[in-house]
Parts: sequence; structure tokens; C-alpha cells
Amino acid sequence: MKESYIARRSKLIENKQGPCMICIFSGNAPRKSLDSVYPFYVDRNFFYLTGIDHENMILMLRKDQNGDVTESLFIEPYDEELAKWVGGRMRADEATEISGIDNIRDFSDFSAAVHSFINSTRGFGKTHVYLDLWRHVENQADTQAHQFAAKLQQRYPAVVIDDIFGDMVAMRLIKSHEEIAFMRKAQDATCTAIIAMLKYARPEMNESELEGIFDFSLKKQGVREHAFTSIIAGGGRAAILHYDNNDQIVHDGEMVLIDLGSADGHYCADISRTFPINGKFTDRQRQIYNAVLDAQRIVMANAKPGVTTGQLNQMVIDYYESRLDDLGLRKDGKGVRDYYYHGVSHSLGLDTHDISHGRNVPLQPGMVITVEPGLYIEEESIGVRIENDVLITEDGIIDLSAAIPSTVEEIEAIMAK
Ligand code: GLY
Ligand code: MN
Ligand code: MN
Repeated sequence: MKESYIARRSKLIENKQGPCMICIFSGNAPRKSLDSVYPFYVDRNFFYLTGIDHENMILMLRKDQNGDVTESLFIEPYDEELAKWVGGRMRADEATEISGIDNIRDFSDFSAAVHSFINSTRGFGKTHVYLDLWRHVENQADTQAHQFAAKLQQRYPAVVIDDIFGDMVAMRLIKSHEEIAFMRKAQDATCTAIIAMLKYARPEMNESELEGIFDFSLKKQGVREHAFTSIIAGGGRAAILHYDNNDQIVHDGEMVLIDLGSADGHYCADISRTFPINGKFTDRQRQIYNAVLDAQRIVMANAKPGVTTGQLNQMVIDYYESRLDDLGLRKDGKGVRDYYYHGVSHSLGLDTHDISHGRNVPLQPGMVITVEPGLYIEEESIGVRIENDVLITEDGIIDLSAAIPSTVEEIEAIMAK
């Protein structure tokens, strides 16, 4: 992988004009209370460019006015005392071995290094500093990059601060063979765990017990990483898209919607399946289920380079529109959007809802997206979502989740065992 990280960094800076500097922060774990902290979640762009999953590190790429590039990684020094309590910090040689960056420097030297670079560019035009300044939501707390940008602008008003997010999107959207291999492993582990859940499911079981089967199966497989908090929603709770209380009984005759995934090397799987807790679909459940499965097939048949996920979503809406009467859903003034109120796809990768340009950008070979139509009929306590993850190829897709049972017949056969 080291060669890939080296290539990614050089691609990121190759089309930038010197003098410039790119700084990417690994982040750190937010404090929870007193001496406890939330689990550390490495900044995905930092990880993509270095392969290192460690807090309090800064990647710095510099290009001078002659176009010469220097790479540095700022890390906290190894601490023998800390090592006795929580294990050691990463040593410089290990950081070099993983990332391919030779120039490992002390974290406390970062400000001086910034100053020294900006000083060295005097007289060679505007110095650009690129940071990941994207905010997912308006009131999101400042990241280290935002804080650094504010400080930089105050101390060096002539420096031009620019956003590197768009460059990261363009790179991370297209998955390499190595990345697909990680994603396939996440699919395999998730598949095994879902089959374990199907075999274990019984009426009057608590959603949490089903969740426990998923978690246990992953642990048994040596997998420690979940892509996101599992959703185990019985009956009408399936109509709540991101229900994750997972603490209610699933009664005989009800279906349960599961939306979960493991991750491998931080590459996510995102799978939804819906099944009757007693192992046998009623006629009505089968009718709704097969309508959703048909919608998924339509999307899979049409997903290819040039098409947008917005267009794929419209195909789902059009298909449901054509089925609304025979499904008995054209009532009380309701329309498709009352029964299907999310999008059919999102990008998948190091993040579950991965970095992307949005719904109106044509698909390209190498992208991985979800295909997740649903139908949610709260008044009937039925909510169905079927979600597979697909790789866009030159002329269509490869269904990475094909091995995970999804037809009525496959599900009933497994649950009968
Ligand atoms: N698991 C969240 C989603 O499917 O988008
Ligand atoms: Mn999902
Ligand atoms: Mn999804």
C-alpha cells in the first residue's frame, strides 16, 4: 500500500502551482467526560494519503516556486510513560514504513515549519495554503483545519487559503483495485454475519439480540470494525430510516429491517435486508418486498457511466408510480414520496456516506455506490429496504453484494434451516 499513498500524495499536489502548501490533520478524539474520550476516528483524507490511523499528526506537502515538492509528517514523540498505560505512540520509523514519508518531524515544530516555508516564498507571488475546509452541516464545530486557517489568516494576511476538499473528492470517488479488495472483504464478513442472523431469528426476539448475533459473528470472524451503528428495526419501526434504538420485541408476523455493515481497512459495507421474523413472508409482505426488489433490479440494470444517481432515483420513483394502484397505495391522497422518502444511492468507501459531488454528477468507472430502494407503509407496520453495494464498470456494474441472500426464496430457505 505504501506505493499507493506515495502516488496519491504526488497526484494531489501535481496540478497545484508553487509556491503552495497542503496541510491535512489526522484529528483527535473528543473528550467525553473527565478522563474518558470518545473513540478516535481518523480523518479519512489523512488516512487516504498516509495509511496511518493515529491522532495528533499533520501531513504537510510543500511545493516551492521551482516546482520542487517536499513531504513532511509531524507526529508526537514516543512517550515511554504513556506506553505503559495505553501503549506507545507511533515511532518515526513505523510512520515512514507505512506512509513512505521519510521526513518525520516533531509535532511541536509544525508552526515553525509553516513560518519557515511562508518566509521562503517571499517575492515569488502569492503563497497558497490548501486545507480541507468542508463543513457537512452549517453549525458543525471547527475542525483543526478551520482553527489553523483562522490563525494563518491572522498572522499571514497575504497568504491565500484555499479548499482541498474538491481534489479529495475527485480522487477518493474512483476506487483502485486495492480499495475494492478491502471492500470485498467487508462484504464477505457482512454476508456471513447476516446469514447467521437469518438462521437465528425467531418471533418475540428483541432487536438487540439480533444485533448481538451480527456483532458476535463479526467478532468470531476477527472483524472489529463496524461501518456505522447497526439498524435493527422490527414492524413499523422500519419506517424510521435511521432507527437505531434496537431495543424492542419483534412479534410473530412482523418483518424486521436490518441495515448494517462491517468495514475492512476502514472500507465500508452498507447492506440492508428485510425478512419476516418467523421465516415465512405473508402474501402482502411478499408483494411489497418484490416491488422493492424489482426497483433495485431496475437501478442495477441502468447504472453505468454517464448516468447520475439523481436519474437512477427518478427511475425508482417512476417505477413505484406505475405500481401504486396495484399495490393498493394510492389512497388518502398519498403519492410515492409518502412511501419512499430517501435517495436510492450514495457513494461508499472510507466513509459510509462517502465523499462525493452529489446527485447530479455522472457516474464513472471505479465508483462504488449503494442501490437501496425502499417502501415504508407505516399504517401496515411494513418497511422494506434492500441495499446492495455496486462497483461501476465501463459498461454497467458489478454487484459486490451479490452473495448476500435477497430473494424471498433465498431468505425463506435459509430461515427454514
Ligand atoms: N446505512 C445508512 C444508509 O444506508 O445510508
Ligand atoms: Mn444502509
Ligand atoms: Mn446506504
